Amino acid sequence: MIRDSWESLGRNKVPHGMVMFSRLFELEPALLGLFQYNTSCGSTQDCLASPEFLDHVTKVMLVVDAAVSHLDDLLSLEDFLLNLGRKHQAVGVDTQSFAVVGESLLYMLQCALGETYTAPLRQAWLNMYSVVVSAMSRGWAQ
Ligand code: HEM
Repeated sequence: MIRDSWESLGRNKVPHGMVMFSRLFELEPALLGLFQYNTSCGSTQDCLASPEFLDHVTKVMLVVDAAVSHLDDLLSLEDFLLNLGRKHQAVGVDTQSFAVVGESLLYMLQCALGETYTAPLRQAWLNMYSVVVSAMSRGWAQ
C-alpha cells in the first residue's frame, strides 16, 4: 500500500514536500527559527522560498523515499538514521518536533491522495514513519 501510494508522489518530491513543511510551520511556527541559513528566514514565505530550505525539503523527501524503498529492511537504514538524529540534536531540533513532522506528512498524503487515503493506509504510513523517528530519536539521545 505504501509503495503504491508513494509512486506518483515520489516523482514530485518538492511540491509535496512544500505542502508538508507549510503545514509543519502552521502547527509549530517556532521551527522556522531553526533554519538559519545565510538568506533570511524571517517569515514563512521567505523561508519556503530560500534555496537552502528547498534543499532541506528535498533531503527530507529523499529520506522518506529511502524508507519506502527499504520497507522490507528498514534496519539497513539504522546507522544513517541514528546519525541523522544526532545531527538534528546538534541543530536544535527537539524529538517532539519529529512527531509534528509525522502529522504534517500525513496531512500532505491526505491532500495528495484524496479518497485513496484510507484509514489502513494512514496507519501503514504511521507505522513506517514511527520506525524512522524511533531510530532518529535514539540517535538524538546518544
Ligand atoms: C539537515 C532542520 C526534520 C532530514 C537539517 C539541518 C537543519 C534541519 C537546520 C541542517 C541544515 C540543512 O541541511 O539544511 C530540521 C527541522 C526539522 C527537520 C527544523 C523539523 C522537525 C527532518 C526530518 C528529516 C530530515 C523529519 C528526515 C526524515 C534531514 C537531512 C539533513 C537535514 C537528510 C542533512 C543532514 C546532513 O547534512 O547529513 N535539518 N529538520 N530533517 N535534515 Fe532536517
